[in-house]
Amino acid sequence: MEQLATIKAVRARLATVRKAEKKIALVPTMGNLHAGHLALVQQARQISDHIVVSIFVNPTQFVAGEDFENYPRTLSDDLQLLDSLDVETVFIPTTSEIYGQHPITTIVTVPELAAIYCGACRPGHFNGVATIVTKLFNIVQPDLAVFGAKDYQQLLVIRNLVVNLNLPIEIISGATVRATDGLAISSRNKYLTATERQLAPTLYECIKRAELAIKAGASNYKKLEKEAVSTLKKAGFKPDYFSICDAKTLKSPTNQEVVILAAAWLGKARLIDNVAVQPL
Ligand code: PAF
Repeated sequence: MEQLATIKAVRARLATVRKAEKKIALVPTMGNLHAGHLALVQQARQISDHIVVSIFVNPTQFVAGEDFENYPRTLSDDLQLLDSLDVETVFIPTTSEIYGQHPITTIVTVPELAAIYCGACRPGHFNGVATIVTKLFNIVQPDLAVFGAKDYQQLLVIRNLVVNLNLPIEIISGATVRATDGLAISSRNKYLTATERQLAPTLYECIKRAELAIKAGASNYKKLEKEAVSTLKKAGFKPDYFSICDAKTLKSPTNQEVVILAAAWLGKARLIDNVAVQPL
């Protein structure tokens, strides 16, 4: 496994890989790798010849007052895990390698999607994501890139930018990995106390309840949303949103596929989760 810190070194290595006509997959991460990330790497392994994992805690996607400074950084554990999966290249740039010494003056944005749900709660977050992902795409120039479906809105932002900017990169989504009690695995679960960790699966339970109702023919989505918000509040969550919306646009649902999207604070952890569902 090659560990590289500069854009120049990544480009040089991948030029050789490309010459050998190998298919390159990128798995972008912010490190603190868990079972969810490892599943993305394993998925990339099935469909590519050379895997690049990037580890970069991207400052521009953190909003003022968020956990950028305290975001868990576990580089040596991460490298061991990636080595055990025979990852070919790990890209671990510094902030100045990515953004230079000057304030950034070019931003990539997918304005409509970036302004709603998590974008409304975390203004500027998706511009930071779209910008870093575009940079990584330009540096690595992968044939495909794998992102977790847990970050559903992020996945849509990335799918849109790839289409809109004509980037020849296939975007693959990896299924959400869950603990046995249903909680979606996330680096931020570390912020939960033991008591909160017991309560945390309530978020997924509310989503599953709404999913079952929709599958059984319920069409009053506002009622389902209200019931879920009320259950979450009673359990001690502070919901940012619980919404049933069109799975492709995140706008008002039609009779196409919908996605049940939820974000809620539990103590210091902001949990997000979703399930896509085909109405009856
Ligand atoms: O999902 C993440 O971990 C990050 O948002 C990403 C895609 C690596 C960009 O920093």
